Amino acid sequence: MTNNTKPIDDATPLDDISGLKISKSKSYSLKEIYEKEALNIANATLKYLSAPPSKKEAPFTYEWLLKLHEEMFGDVWDWAGKVRTVELSIGIKAYLVSTELKKLSDDIAFWNKNRTFDVYETATRIHHRAVQIHPFKNGNGRWSRMLANIYLRQNGLMPVKWQENLLASENPKRNAYIQALKKADNSNFTDLIAMHKITY
Ligand SMILES: Nc1ncnc2c1ncn2[C@@H]1O[C@H](COP(=O)(O)OP(=O)(O)O)[C@@H](O)[C@H]1O
Ligand SMILES: [Mg+2]
Repeated sequence: MTNNTKPIDDATPLDDISGLKISKSKSYSLKEIYEKEALNIANATLKYLSAPPSKKEAPFTYEWLLKLHEEMFGDVWDWAGKVRTVELSIGIKAYLVSTELKKLSDDIAFWNKNRTFDVYETATRIHHRAVQIHPFKNGNGRWSRMLANIYLRQNGLMPVKWQENLLASENPKRNAYIQALKKADNSNFTDLIAMHKITY
């Protein structure tokens, strides 16, 4: 594979194209892979965000959380929708991923039932917990932001335009986003919640 493009983000190992489903006879640049992923993700976006998805379509159960990742990345990567078994620089230990993801789905059900937080805060907390767990080898950021958007849409609010193609390291907004995630790590959700209210 050629490395003639800049890293998409700091979290993604550049040399690891094992698991790539598309033709192996040709070498792909990171940009080409990213574009194939974007096409795959566009289908999931159509499915879940064109109209508010029902509770049946998007139940936020453990199984569905995995299924969503598979729907976003399954055309490109064979590990899509599968809990990772390797350690990454971001995220919890691999052996904890399944239990923490199950806890997240249980918490979402609890938050819904008890109206613990308003819709923006719930979407924000889902996004943050999902990315903290980092269940998959890659695509965790895009999957977490999609989860938040599906939650917003399901609850009558507009999804956020995260400008995914710009979330690479050269995006000036990226730093503010990472800072907001770090504040959320310390239970200060204010900045990250504000980002979920921008629907320009
Ligand atoms: N310090 C950090 N640096 C980069 N990304 C971070 C950091 N902390 C949390 N993240 C989250 O991890 C995501 C990157 O993880 P990754 O699995 O590569 O997702 P994707 O491939 O969708 O970008 C970022 O979009 C962000 O949501
Ligand atoms: Mg990545």
